[in-house]
Amino acid sequence: MGEQASGESSGKEPIGVIGAGWVGLVTAACFAELGHPVVARDVVEEKVEALNRGEVTIHEPGLAELITGNADRLEFTTDMDRVLDHARLLFVCVDTPPTHSGDADLSRVRKVVDDLAGSGDHVLVMKSTVPAGTGETIIAELPGAGYVSCPEFLKEGTAVEDFMNPDRVVIGVGQGGEADGDAVAGLYEPLGGQMVRTDVTSAEMIKLASNAYLATRISFINEIANVCEEVGADVGEVARGMGLDDRIGPQFLRPGIGFGGSCFPKDVSALKLLAGNSGYHFQLLNSVIEVNELQKRRVVGKLVKHLGPLAGRRIALLGLAFKPDTDDMREASSLVLAARLAAEGAEVVAFDPVAMDAARAMLPGVEMAGSALEALTGADGAVLVTEWPEFHGLDWGEAASVMGNPLMIDGRNFLDPAALAAAGFTWEGVGRAEVRPG
Ligand SMILES: NC(=O)c1ccc[n+]([C@@H]2O[C@H](COP(=O)([O-])OP(=O)(O)OC[C@H]3O[C@@H](n4cnc5c(N)ncnc54)[C@H](O)[C@@H]3O)[C@@H](O)[C@H]2O)c1
Repeated sequence: MGEQASGESSGKEPIGVIGAGWVGLVTAACFAELGHPVVARDVVEEKVEALNRGEVTIHEPGLAELITGNADRLEFTTDMDRVLDHARLLFVCVDTPPTHSGDADLSRVRKVVDDLAGSGDHVLVMKSTVPAGTGETIIAELPGAGYVSCPEFLKEGTAVEDFMNPDRVVIGVGQGGEADGDAVAGLYEPLGGQMVRTDVTSAEMIKLASNAYLATRISFINEIANVCEEVGADVGEVARGMGLDDRIGPQFLRPGIGFGGSCFPKDVSALKLLAGNSGYHFQLLNSVIEVNELQKRRVVGKLVKHLGPLAGRRIALLGLAFKPDTDDMREASSLVLAARLAAEGAEVVAFDPVAMDAARAMLPGVEMAGSALEALTGADGAVLVTEWPEFHGLDWGEAASVMGNPLMIDGRNFLDPAALAAAGFTWEGVGRAEVRPG
């Protein structure tokens, strides 16, 4: 790596990628795996240097193997001209974080558009999630260039698999953009997903609406879980019974302590504000956001129910990343939970199998343990925040013996309550009956 992407003579369409984060790295690595010579550009020099040394900068299963296995077809650079020289098709994968107002921050996208002005017949393939209407604005600004909206649907933790086996590939083109759309569709054809050909603004809306709908399902099942707690029903049974209805399906009916991550919170907020800015009050999304915020805080109420005031109590958090199989801490529920616990005067200790480095900087004041057992040692209560598979394998008898008080608030309904109770724990999940030891 670091040498010129040598597959340029392979006959496969050269690909340019702009932004080497989660989406950009997976896009670059997967297109290289499909035989394309890829040049990926990022603005962060240390990241590019690390990638050219073969060091993968994020935790994503299967990604490191693809990057090292396709080293001769992958080049990382900070040089925009190098990407422009290499490829006509430029996959834009820069971040679009929320601004203070909750709107999407398009400054990185704007910078790419500025870099491209007057650079010939390139085609911008927009993978970044942008507000509906963004593409049409860019098309008007770059009359010489092509533009294809091709939103990304990968999930962190299974990103490589999702890219290689898409449910659908959405391709939105403007007037006169059919040939560019065909070129992008051709790249995805070997992967076999359903092609959705549409206009640019509808493609942008498909992405925003999909994330908002999934977030809505999560907030819905979380509220059902909260009602289950009141009426004595078991949300696991309720979700199973609901999910068997073909019109509903079983996906995204798992209650927990709220959604986080780099996409759902910001995309739901961006869609709500996009609607508001366009003159429409998106009432449902206000509730989805509010339910999600309250859900993260309910854990504190459960700890208080068992322990009384939390001032001076030692609380262990198991898992910090926003989901398993990633070290991404963006908008993780653990951030809100740790802050709430600290505000109650609790002493917070935490462990995550891979996100410790990312978490340390974001959780000042939280003691970082070297293992789950170390985090539990001396704790008055524990919260399972992220459902890392390795937590299943903990020796719960030993865990109960090292804790000051064996209490587990299972924020993901992930652990086996009977096994924990047999080991001496009091277990409480989300929307299910509490289980006591013995
Ligand atoms: N992460 C996901 O699971 C996911 C899934 C689907 C869609 N998306 C969307 O894809 C986009 C990228 O998300 P991500 O999670 O990969 O972000 P990220 O923050 O991990 O990566 C973005 C990268 O772009 C780089 N960058 C910024 N400006 C640049 C420029 N002018 N030129 C080159 N590089 C530049 C940054 O340094 C960073 O490395 C966002 O719009 C996001 O909403 C993300």
